[in-house]
Amino acid sequence: MLGAFFEDINYSADGGLYAELIQNRDFEYDPSDREGDKNWNSTHSWALKGEKTTFTIDTTDPIHINNPHYAVLNVEQPGAALENTGFDGIALNTGEKYDFSIFARVPQGKSNKLQVRLVDGKGNVCGETSLTVSSRQWKTYKAVIIAKATADTHLEIIPQSVGELNLDMISLFPQNTFKGRKNGLRKDLAQVLADIHPRFIRFPGGCVAHGDGLKNIYQWKNTVGPLEARKAQRNLWGYHQSMGLGYFEYFQFCEDIGAEPLPVLAAGVPCQNSACHGDLRGGQQGGIPMSEMGAYIQDILDLIEWANGDAKKTKWGKVRAEAGHPKPFNLKYIGIGNEDLITDIFEERFTMIFNAIKEKYPEMIVVGTVGPFNEGTDYVEGWKLADKLGIPMVDEHYYQTPGWFLNNQDFYDKYDRSKKTKVYLGEYATHIPGRKANIETALTEALYLAALERNGDVVHMTSYAPLLAKEGHTQWNPDLIYFNNREVKPTTGYYVQKLYGQNAGNEYLPSKITLDNRDDQVRKRIAASIVRDSASGDVIVKLVNLLPVEVNTNVDLSGIGAIQSSAKRTVLTGKPADTPLPVEDTMEVAEKFDYQLPAYSFTVIRIKKANEK
Ligand code: AHR
Repeated sequence: MLGAFFEDINYSADGGLYAELIQNRDFEYDPSDREGDKNWNSTHSWALKGEKTTFTIDTTDPIHINNPHYAVLNVEQPGAALENTGFDGIALNTGEKYDFSIFARVPQGKSNKLQVRLVDGKGNVCGETSLTVSSRQWKTYKAVIIAKATADTHLEIIPQSVGELNLDMISLFPQNTFKGRKNGLRKDLAQVLADIHPRFIRFPGGCVAHGDGLKNIYQWKNTVGPLEARKAQRNLWGYHQSMGLGYFEYFQFCEDIGAEPLPVLAAGVPCQNSACHGDLRGGQQGGIPMSEMGAYIQDILDLIEWANGDAKKTKWGKVRAEAGHPKPFNLKYIGIGNEDLITDIFEERFTMIFNAIKEKYPEMIVVGTVGPFNEGTDYVEGWKLADKLGIPMVDEHYYQTPGWFLNNQDFYDKYDRSKKTKVYLGEYATHIPGRKANIETALTEALYLAALERNGDVVHMTSYAPLLAKEGHTQWNPDLIYFNNREVKPTTGYYVQKLYGQNAGNEYLPSKITLDNRDDQVRKRIAASIVRDSASGDVIVKLVNLLPVEVNTNVDLSGIGAIQSSAKRTVLTGKPADTPLPVEDTMEVAEKFDYQLPAYSFTVIRIKKANEK
């Protein structure tokens, strides 16, 4: 049930999970990415330091039509440096290796040696290399830099001869990425995500998937293939997506951590909050013109072929194989739409896409959408459409107060079990005034997740939102994990997700947990869920106490089979202002045992069946 939802919001991708260290490596930042910021253009993050050299941007004869801008240096006298400040600096770790690469040409044919340095704030050179550009045509040059210090640096490229140089795709990548993948993911960030043990990852959004206006709809084909041929695009959260982290990398990451990929594609309509951005067809009610829907639907079918098609016999399977993955990715789920307004325009397009997928790939589990809230017109109309078409699953979204979650623990208990359509709770989080993540929000989520486990026959998938946020570049709060260039700072809510992910079961055991207090206001602040993991035979007891006082409970496990008397216990507890970490120990358990829930706590007790170590 428990998965993760990755959206490129809050600098989650470039400058975040995607390990590239150079910002605007392709000179494709565009003023339309961030209106009103006069520094947001092709030279963003770049500057020329020194004299007798000019730095301009050109678009004549680029590396690729999708990547039209590049830097031109005209060196009258060597000495000046083209500098890049990275994403809030370039964090190096001593002894580690970094792959430097650059596309370059010397139009006049006169070779030019480039000195490449990583320099800290005090002027110390913390790593360096050099390479000689000799080709009149675009050519990639590569070198490895070994960091001499753990330092926050910037990049300097210093031509050693006079003449014109054209430069593009200037990249610096740690070799030490997650699983050592080239063009890979930042290791520490990817690891905290993997530690949740998500059974699936939904990507690339959220609003990013359906985009701000028709021209901003995320097009998966623009995000695969050689990096220099990928098409960068404005990110509707007010910045730029290089697409270095594209569909191939998302699928690869899913495979690396054993999660099912859940790509989400626009249902032929852009985000319901679209501000058009010059595309008058793509405002709130706009849809892809019918004359273009055939091509759009073909793109979606092509994605399924790209993910699952034979490497030799299918066109898109071949493309996947050429990118380095001959084996199919075994895609099972595909999301169509993201909390859209359920208008006639939406319904018409969604139905066309749904029918086309069903016809060609009947085994595919299509995940539809029922608007941005847990009630209202879009929720009602979305569900009507789901019932009418027999959509296998719909994506529900709700960001709510602690009170809402407390009072709606029976939300899915009331669900009509005869319905064909299952639920994916794709976006949820507890929001309190000030929108901070704290133990109250985390325990509210733990409490609600217990109710979702109880309703696992209906709610097949869940994912908290949003996942990642870079400090200083955050558009949305709260998020599950904050980070900067060096640190990863999981919230208390993260540990709740991780404890649920690592202690998931596949069999729900009706629980017999008695409380010594019968007051309804007390009882709704206590939750329990008991599940069994059939692979290991472990029984997992989860207990949540959202009260500021200890509570006595009695856990009755009779009927679940013989168990060992010593169990692993993990407790997450603290005062509202704390940011506690889970603490593990062992405890004695029996068929029936008393347990005192600490104030403000989430306890997971993992019990092995008898005769197992
Ligand atoms: O999770 C942040 C945003 O919330 C998502 O992009 C969107 O789907 C929702 O409105």
